[in-house]
Amino acid sequence: MYEVSMMDRQAGRRLDYSMLENNNSYYEVYSRNGASAHILVHPDAQADILKLLNANMMNYKIVHNDVGLWLQRDFEMNQKLRNLYPYQGKLGTERYYSHDEINQFIEDLAKQNPTRVEVKTVGKSFEGRWLKTIRITNGDGRANKNVILVDGGFHAREWISPAAVVYGINELVNNYEAHAQLLQDYDWVILPVVNPDGYEYSQISPNTRMWRKTRQPSSRHCIGIDPNRNFDFHWNEAGASSDPCDDGYAGPKAFSEPETIVVRDLIHSLADRGKMYLTVHSEGSYLLYPWGYIESLPDTWQDLDEVARAGRDAIKAATGNVYKVGGSAILMYPAAGASDDYAFNAGFPISFTMELPSGRKNPFHPPPTDIDRLVKETWVGIVAMAQKVVKKYPLN
Ligand code: ARG
Ligand code: ZN
Repeated sequence: MYEVSMMDRQAGRRLDYSMLENNNSYYEVYSRNGASAHILVHPDAQADILKLLNANMMNYKIVHNDVGLWLQRDFEMNQKLRNLYPYQGKLGTERYYSHDEINQFIEDLAKQNPTRVEVKTVGKSFEGRWLKTIRITNGDGRANKNVILVDGGFHAREWISPAAVVYGINELVNNYEAHAQLLQDYDWVILPVVNPDGYEYSQISPNTRMWRKTRQPSSRHCIGIDPNRNFDFHWNEAGASSDPCDDGYAGPKAFSEPETIVVRDLIHSLADRGKMYLTVHSEGSYLLYPWGYIESLPDTWQDLDEVARAGRDAIKAATGNVYKVGGSAILMYPAAGASDDYAFNAGFPISFTMELPSGRKNPFHPPPTDIDRLVKETWVGIVAMAQKVVKKYPLN
C-alpha cells in the first residue's frame, strides 16, 4: 500500500476530491484540508493514482512505499513497549495505553486523592466498555464552580489524543499546586476516551490500526459510524456521509451511538457552568472553533479567536510548532454534526477542536518516542487557553 501526500499546484485553489470518488475502494483520503491531503492507495492502484494526480495538476510526494510494513513494525514496537512498561499505578509517556489502563489510572487517582478527584461512570460503549469521567477540583469543597470540559479519543486511530488528555489529568491531579489558578474557581471534567471500542479495535492488529469510527454495525456489510458526525446540530448537512461504509458516516440518525449520547448528556449537564469545551483529536496542528457545519463564524468569534490564539502563542513560544487557528469549516473543511458545534450551541462560550500535530513519519501514528514531546506541548497550549478562559469568564 502506498501513502501519497498531494497538494494543489495552483496556490489558493481548493482541492477537488471528486477525481478520487469513482474509485472509492482503491483510495482512502484520510487526512485533508482545503489545500492538501494524505491518501492511502491500494497496491493495484499505485500506477493509476500517479497518472491521476498528474492529469489533475497535483503536486505529490510518496510518503510511504509500503504502509503495511510500516504498520507491522509499529505494531510490534507497541507490543514490546507494553511488556516493557506494564501499568504500575502510573501512566508515563513511554508508550500508548489501553482503555482499561486509562480507566484503572483514573480510578487509582480517585482512591489516592478522595477530596480532589471523583470518577463517575457515565455510560457504556456499544461493546460494553465503561465510559468514565474524572472530575478534578482543588478540594476546597465549594460547589457550583465554572467548568472546563475536555474529551479525547473520539476517533479510534488518534492515539495521541487520549495520551495527551491523560497527561493533562496527571498534571492537574499530581501537580495541582502549579495549577492552583486553574482550579480556584473552575472544576475540570474529563472523558479520556469517548470511543473505546474503536480505540481498542485499532490496537489489535496492524490491519485495524487505521480504524476511525465506532464499532456498532451500521449495515449488513459495514461497521461503525463517525461519532463526530453524529451530533444533533445540523446533523448530516455537510461534510458527512449517508453511506454506512464510509469513514465519515453520520449514522442512521443523530445520536444513534451510546458514546455520543454520553457526550451529549455531559454537555447538557454542565452547560450552565461550562465555559470551555475542548475535544482533542489529531492531526495537523489546528485549533478550530465554530462553525464546523457552515463556512461562517458566530457573532462571538473574536472571543473564540482570542482564547485559541493564547494557546497557539504559548505553544509557538515553547516548541516553535505553529498551530493554525480559525473557524473549522473555513480553515479545514465543513463537517456537520460534530461535538464542538453542539457544545457551543448548548451554551459553552468557548468550544474548540484541537488537532494535535502529525507524526513525523505518518500523520496518525506518532511513534512512541514522540509521545512525551507531543503531550507536553499540548498541555502548554491547554494551560494557556484555560488561563485565558479563567480571566475572561470569572465566577459570578
Ligand atoms: N478532524 C475533525 C473531524 O473530522 C475535525 C472536526 C472539526 N469540527 C467541525 N465541526 N467540523 O471530525
Ligand atoms: Zn478526529
